[in-house]
Amino acid sequence: MEQEITQKIRQLAKEKNAIILAHNYQPPEIQEIADLNGDSLELSIKASQTDADIILFCGVRFMAETASILSPDKTILLPRLDAGCPMADMITPEDLRAWTKKNPSMPVVTYVNSTAAVKALTTICCTSANVVKVVNSLEAKEILMAPDRNLANYAASKTDKIIHAWNGYCPFHNALTPEQVLRQKQAHPEALFMAHPECRTEVLELADIITSTSGMIRIAKESESISFIVGTEIGLLYPLKKENPDKTFYPASTAMECADMKKITLADVADSLENLTGEVKVPEEIRVPALQSVQRMIAL
Ligand code: 13P
Ligand code: SF4
Repeated sequence: MEQEITQKIRQLAKEKNAIILAHNYQPPEIQEIADLNGDSLELSIKASQTDADIILFCGVRFMAETASILSPDKTILLPRLDAGCPMADMITPEDLRAWTKKNPSMPVVTYVNSTAAVKALTTICCTSANVVKVVNSLEAKEILMAPDRNLANYAASKTDKIIHAWNGYCPFHNALTPEQVLRQKQAHPEALFMAHPECRTEVLELADIITSTSGMIRIAKESESISFIVGTEIGLLYPLKKENPDKTFYPASTAMECADMKKITLADVADSLENLTGEVKVPEEIRVPALQSVQRMIAL
């Protein structure tokens, strides 16, 4: 059955000149069907470079919106339109407008995990992979950063900028506690602890490596260490194990599972490709200003 649906998807993708992109947190069968897997930055860059007519995004809404911002002439499909990012919804355009009005001299760095309407009010976007580079690219000493307070605190610790953080967070990364990490470290003292910068400062202080999801895949390959404690959403364990069959990966907490990242099924992908359901199109009045902040990031 899975083989049949997989064949159907590949056939439809070929017929319709579609490319399938999947985030590193997606379920294994979705990662397997994709043409390209990656972190948010890699997927944004791929979405800006492909010459496919259709980009089918297996991820959450902000990722498909970013593809629409970058490729207005392509059809962007998100097989489940209800796959969102709770953190992205923690700041509205009205919130950001009011905040910048109070701080008119400060540029705004917005995490790519945000709505297109928020990106439209932003100086430059960033991802977990390039946040330090983005912050350092700005001349201003003081910066506003939204929506992730943990990412903002991490960036502040790596630069000499004064960063004012919006009070948003990823519910799953933010819930990881130092106690949970210390328990895993005690059980596996030889393991390297890799943490995503969406984790709380007290957790990041315990980390051997702080990086994006694809950064973790690269480190796991290159490192001499043979075991790792993984401080991010548990979907990443699949590509980590696949690419490093001789190494061992322990989740920092098995509760780090993002329900939105698990919504898309193979049947949803087939339906979306066959009937062009789940189209995401950012309206021009939002897309044009949002494009500037995304392009500025990609150009760095
Ligand atoms: P990455 O950009 O590191 O893949 O992270 C995306 C995300 O949603 C993290 O929760
Ligand atoms: Fe958003 Fe967190 Fe889910 Fe990533 S893991 S999509 S930041 S809620």
